[in-house]
Amino acid sequence: MTAPARSAPPTSGDSNSDAQVRRAGRQLIFALYGALRAVKLYPVENAAVQKALGDVTGQARSLIESLRELELRMSGEFIFVNQTRLRLDLDNFASFSHLLALFRGAGIGSITLGPNVESKDWLIFLSLLQAPASDDPSIRFDQLQEKLASAGVSAFHLTPPADQADDDLEKNKERAKRTYAQSVAATRDLMTSVRMGAGANIKKVKRVVQGIVDQILNEETSLVGLTTLRDYDEYTFTHSVNVCIFSVALGKRLGLTKLQLYDLGMAALFHDIGKSRVPQGLLTKADGLTEAEWVQMAAHPWLGVFALFQIRGAQEFPYRSMVVAYEHHMKLDLTGYPRPTHARQMGVFSKIVAIADSFDAATTRRVYQTVPWSPAEVMREMRDNPRRGMDPVILKAFVNLTGVFPVGTLVVLDTFELAIVHAVNPIAEMLSRPIVRIIADPLGNLSHPGVLADLADRAADGTFHRTIIKTEDPQRYGIRIGDYFV
Ligand SMILES: [Fe+2]
Ligand SMILES: [Fe+2]
Repeated sequence: MTAPARSAPPTSGDSNSDAQVRRAGRQLIFALYGALRAVKLYPVENAAVQKALGDVTGQARSLIESLRELELRMSGEFIFVNQTRLRLDLDNFASFSHLLALFRGAGIGSITLGPNVESKDWLIFLSLLQAPASDDPSIRFDQLQEKLASAGVSAFHLTPPADQADDDLEKNKERAKRTYAQSVAATRDLMTSVRMGAGANIKKVKRVVQGIVDQILNEETSLVGLTTLRDYDEYTFTHSVNVCIFSVALGKRLGLTKLQLYDLGMAALFHDIGKSRVPQGLLTKADGLTEAEWVQMAAHPWLGVFALFQIRGAQEFPYRSMVVAYEHHMKLDLTGYPRPTHARQMGVFSKIVAIADSFDAATTRRVYQTVPWSPAEVMREMRDNPRRGMDPVILKAFVNLTGVFPVGTLVVLDTFELAIVHAVNPIAEMLSRPIVRIIADPLGNLSHPGVLADLADRAADGTFHRTIIKTEDPQRYGIRIGDYFV
């Protein structure tokens, strides 16, 4: 057997050239750090500044010469020069972490240097990088690009830390979808068992609720976005899951502990369990209910208490869930149903679930509601109509959670683009400026999945790039909101 033909060994061993890159890379980082400090501390004419800029330019050029190209990339806690990870040790710790923090703050994931980079390019870049700023990194990234361009600096090609962020986002979306699907399935099983009078698997439901709580504590947007998938055929189940998601997200805003959120989530998921004791025909009846049928329907709160007696687990008594099932239609002023015989105060869990319940019910197309309200209309009505009987403080927290234009609202922008509200703006003062997904251009050409835009983004003169002018009915445009959240 003959040995496979070998190509000639490289003139310098791989490990050797790797070590060289590492050494030269470290020197570049030191020079960069020195230049940053000099630019920050002294006026431009100062000899120390000129020398430091000369150093960093020289280091960069010699690296470009030997490697043909030079890319500095930030990944997690590491800096890479092309494919080589620089070693972090005690004597370079300060310079490394300072640089990483600066780049991260400016939304920079990588810098590729042009071959003709000059001292004056470094001066402008490093000054801009250190200018005081409070903006979000992605906004700063765009500003930095614009400023470099207007200063005529083209030696740096910058990219945002896209890969990892996208990956995380995708993973979160996948996890959210799984959690949602499992929750609907478990709720369907549970309610069907109750309807059949069979024993229910409470353990499975508990796991599902814990999954929802964990996911919301970890990343809220993906799961809240899925509530827009209100499924007509599985209304009772998806509704229960949606109310659970909204209640837990709201409870989190109100500062409940994780254990309290588990309890709240269980109670929310079970709030309509009494409907499994109402004849199926009534739940899906297309035309209005008769007086007698309505009486049957309005019995679901206390039927829910009975159902919970039936399915209670071996050790724990679902007391809180019973209270919520019983009180969720009672209204703050007790004008709802069942009508209590004595004065009483609704429990805080019931108040939370009542708000989540009204919101989801009113925004869903249902059998006895031919046109669903837009989420924004529902928000407005819940806030302004005192007969809704909602707790004003909890409602305020709910508006903070969903924004003035809740997730899933179709909106028209002042650019005449069409967009779907994707997430509430993390900046608290920007409740009417959510993150949106632009799905149609000003001419009405639809695009899927569309691109995200932050309505809090401003132009250099301080005016907003885009503003919502009105909400629209997705049906009119033949748009299925849920399509943009999967
Ligand atoms: Fe209900
Ligand atoms: Fe409900």
